[in-house]
Amino acid sequence: MRYVVILAGGSGTRLWPWSRTRRPKQLLPLLHGRSLLEHAFERLKPLVAPERLFVCGSLIFKEEICRLLNLPEQQFIGEPVGRDTAAAIGYCGAVLRQRDANAVFAVCTADHVIEPAERFRDSLRSGFGLAESRAHALVTFGVTPDAASTAYGYLELGAEEGSARVVSRFCEKPDKKTAEAFFAAGPERYLWNSGMFVWKAATLLDCLSAYRPAIYEAVTAMAALYDTPRRDEIVASTYPKIEKISIDYAVMEPASRAGRAEVLAVPLSLNWLDIGSWNAFAAVCQHDDRNNATSAARSALLNCRDVLVASDDPSHLVAVIGCSDLMVVHTADATLVCRAGEAEAVKKLQESLQQSY
Ligand code: GDD
Ligand code: MG
Repeated sequence: MRYVVILAGGSGTRLWPWSRTRRPKQLLPLLHGRSLLEHAFERLKPLVAPERLFVCGSLIFKEEICRLLNLPEQQFIGEPVGRDTAAAIGYCGAVLRQRDANAVFAVCTADHVIEPAERFRDSLRSGFGLAESRAHALVTFGVTPDAASTAYGYLELGAEEGSARVVSRFCEKPDKKTAEAFFAAGPERYLWNSGMFVWKAATLLDCLSAYRPAIYEAVTAMAALYDTPRRDEIVASTYPKIEKISIDYAVMEPASRAGRAEVLAVPLSLNWLDIGSWNAFAAVCQHDDRNNATSAARSALLNCRDVLVASDDPSHLVAVIGCSDLMVVHTADATLVCRAGEAEAVKKLQESLQQSY
């Protein structure tokens, strides 16, 4: 049977001060007044029966997310702490395999803008078809790079397999020089990894057991007790000790080298955007004829160019005069003023602040 798991963990520190520990990026109303998680959920709903759509995220947000999405609690796979995506995906895979030995599942992110939705679903359906028809396949989804970014994984493309391509190498977040070489080689050779995957639960777990046996042991032990009263106890004691590593380093890179399972890529031809920073957020806002972007109920700009104004308080007016290349982000207890070119440093600032901010 087919399943979909939406990953709703992570915090999105580069969108501070909107995103906070208690209000992570995927729950912010970043797009058309709704959260990216709600958009992801709506986009994925038509793919599988409602009882086979799961969300995986922090237990702290369980109630809020279930209410927001009208999701039954048993379809929320909760983590007591975030241990990155190898733990989260491994845990989900183990829970699904426990219920259905033939489970095939898609791992989807909650923090991307993806349009149009129907084309995206068609690509996921091809991914499901591939994962089901091959003995052991790890299916990725590739995006055409528009820069030599070091923030993404790269898929080195080999032979054609129908409408998909063999991934001859998976390279997670290369250094600048390598990213430039990949980008220069063009999209026929290298695509960005979109961070979404489809695989049989059994294949994923087999790779995890080979490459990260301790994670495999932990997630299968937790899954074995998932439907029993002892679940909370074992999850609380086991989960925090799991190695913190992403699925890209833990499984995808070694699998593309070792050939335990074939790695395939379905190229996505659609709009795909990671709203990971204020610059990326500005790109999805309303713009005026001087390229000022606003996402505030009340704002006044005079003689400004390339300014972003964002506020989550409908009663608060933000006014800016005579500025360019600037970002002003207002919240009830913190305001950020930042030169546009330095938006990536927000993460650093946030990390250096007290926990309470
Ligand atoms: N449940 C859960 N638990 N979800 C998590 C956790 C966790 O501990 N950590 C991260 N996530 C979720 C994030 O919310 C996001 O949707 C997804 O998993 C990927 O995590 P990121 O932290 O955003 O990864 P990344 O952006 O650095 O890199 C990944 O995505 C890129 C595309 O955006 C990699 O897969 C790259 O290869 C890829 O290019
Ligand atoms: Mg990301």
